[in-house]
Amino acid sequence: MNVQAVGIIGTGKYVPERILTNQELEHMVETSDEWIVTRTGIRERRIAAPEQATSDLAYEASLKAIAAAGIAAEELDLIIVATITPDTSFPSTACLLQDRLGAKKAAAFDLSAACSGFIYGLATASSLISSGMYKHVLVVGAECLSRITDYTDRNTCILFGDGAGAVVLGEVPQGRGFRSFQLGADGAGGELLKVSGGGSRLSPEGAAAAGGHYIQMAGSEVFKFAVRIMGGAAEEALYKAGLSKEDIDLLIPHQANIRIIQSALNRLNLPEEKCMVNLDKYGNVSAASIPIALAEAVEEGRIQEGDTVVFVGFGGGLTWGASVLVW
Ligand code: ACO
Repeated sequence: MNVQAVGIIGTGKYVPERILTNQELEHMVETSDEWIVTRTGIRERRIAAPEQATSDLAYEASLKAIAAAGIAAEELDLIIVATITPDTSFPSTACLLQDRLGAKKAAAFDLSAACSGFIYGLATASSLISSGMYKHVLVVGAECLSRITDYTDRNTCILFGDGAGAVVLGEVPQGRGFRSFQLGADGAGGELLKVSGGGSRLSPEGAAAAGGHYIQMAGSEVFKFAVRIMGGAAEEALYKAGLSKEDIDLLIPHQANIRIIQSALNRLNLPEEKCMVNLDKYGNVSAASIPIALAEAVEEGRIQEGDTVVFVGFGGGLTWGASVLVW
């Protein structure tokens, strides 16, 4: 019996209007446009309006993905929102989105795997469709990282931005769709990248005293981990798919730092034109960065039917993930 092929049948993205440039950051912390561009590749990032929360960004991206898939919201069976900046601890952002979309039939949950969350979400959704349990699943990566960024900390505040990307997964013809997933975690590295408040470990007072509302990051340790994991995870996903580096038509990596992406390209022996890069415009948008880059690649006509697309990402947890998809 053939297992049902599952692929992406619609994409969408939304980024807030407000642009925060490197030049503006020069007035906020001791940094320079030149340092940020050469050390990260980032030139500007988007910041949500005060009245916008993560579900609002997710909603806009989802409307586009659902329209592109040519289905009605009522046809969704499940909504997964990958985020580390949910509107509230609970209800989940996925439930808020389900209500707003009028996706009455859909189950809904949030998924927490930091920047790898979108790939974890794709793997979950794909399995649920190929098993025959569901037909259409909306997977969203959405973040308001500006709400957990300390704008007095130059080590982190230059990196992050806000936005959302969404995809609808459904059945596709045999020979197309997802070929493999490679997910991983190393909880021993959890301290390297964290928000310590807001959970059951610290009291609200304790969290406030420790700056626990904000992202805390050991930048160079995370950098070394990312360089080690990105190329390797993509290679393992290709191996599982029975493909090789030469088969890649487009690599869509997590958009954290141009030097991390460059090291993955070197390891995969891939020319720059086979890699989607938009971190210069949006910075690191955590779980939203890969689906935003995917939606933009589709808008720009960079993906043709039959192309082999590879997603790869890493993030807090520590977590990582890669996937191979025939478009
Ligand atoms: N402007 C100017 N100087 C700075 C800045 C800044 N914005 N930030 C740091 N520096 C200084 C440091 O203080 C240090 O100075 P010192 O040598 O006098 O102490 C110097 O620059 C070098 O610092 P490093 O941390 O070694 O710089 P590095 O080249 O590693 O770049 C960076 C820092 C960009 C943060 C890099 O380490 C990185 O990208 N790390 C990975 C971050 C990442 O991808 N995080 C994922 C988060 S996703 C998630 O799950 C939420």
